[in-house]
Amino acid sequence: MRSIFRDFSYDYFDILAHPKEQWYDFWQTYREKHPKVLQEYMLKNNLNESTLKEKLESLERRELDKLSQYWQRVGAIEKAKVLKTLGKRADALHLEREDFVIHILGGLGEREHFIIPTSKGNVVMIDLLGCWLSGKIEDFPSIVFGALDDFIEYSHVHVRHFMSDDERRKRFSLLLHRLPTELRDKTFDEKLATIACFLDKYVEHYNWSGFYLTTNDRLLSLGAFVGEPTEHLEIPFGSGICGQAAETMDVFVVPDVSKEENYLACSLKTKSEIVIPLIKEGQVIGELDIDSHFPNGFGASDREFLEKVCEALIRS
Ligand code: SME
Repeated sequence: MRSIFRDFSYDYFDILAHPKEQWYDFWQTYREKHPKVLQEYMLKNNLNESTLKEKLESLERRELDKLSQYWQRVGAIEKAKVLKTLGKRADALHLEREDFVIHILGGLGEREHFIIPTSKGNVVMIDLLGCWLSGKIEDFPSIVFGALDDFIEYSHVHVRHFMSDDERRKRFSLLLHRLPTELRDKTFDEKLATIACFLDKYVEHYNWSGFYLTTNDRLLSLGAFVGEPTEHLEIPFGSGICGQAAETMDVFVVPDVSKEENYLACSLKTKSEIVIPLIKEGQVIGELDIDSHFPNGFGASDREFLEKVCEALIRS
């Protein structure tokens, strides 16, 4: 089995060589060393430059210091333990079939691991700070195996853009099956955030997933989303794809946004878009908006799936 580990934590701990007021500048250099992973990390955590600055300011040097010393002391031993167990479990896990690598890095401590698809394959990123803050770092192998289980489960349901409508349909039905569990016992706002993360995580060609909610005065106001920040915080009914979908109460699929005259650009990377109105008791209460970096990203299977996701939200 090829080596699946890359420990880049020394790049992260370099932060300690800088005074705290320079941590944001440090982060720019750090980002240049791991551009794809850290860019996706920002998107997954809904971070923009100002929230990134706030998070960095809230990090405690003392904790990072302790973590760095801990990892210098036991990192090599912990990694060896993981590799030993991996060797034994490789067949059962079918690891060599999966196109992925584990990067040990430091982040802002939100979670212990993230799955980050890149053009060269998937990266399972372990955030050492997340492991430290959750107190689980002392059982590092279980963090790695938890991340791998998550990845393996993910790779069975991950919807890839190159899949045919039929292949997508099979995976969408698995996703629809698990959605109610994800939504259980959550408030409406939490459900919106859960769905945005869920779609972003499991569908490769959904590159901006979010909700707009109807306010009075026939206005759509930005709600939970995952993806690049957008300047369209409020959209009047009738304006852009979103406003047209709200006006007509109908699903709007745009295979090529460059050909659409009534379109509000969010990112230059966006090539196609779909908007599904959320209709409750005959009223548009909001809508689900998805942008794709792939041209003609949304087939019949996507439309059916997203309509069902919206129904599940309204019903729940
Ligand atoms: N493209 C949308 C605006 C919203 S952003 O894509 C997030 C539109 O034309 O309404």
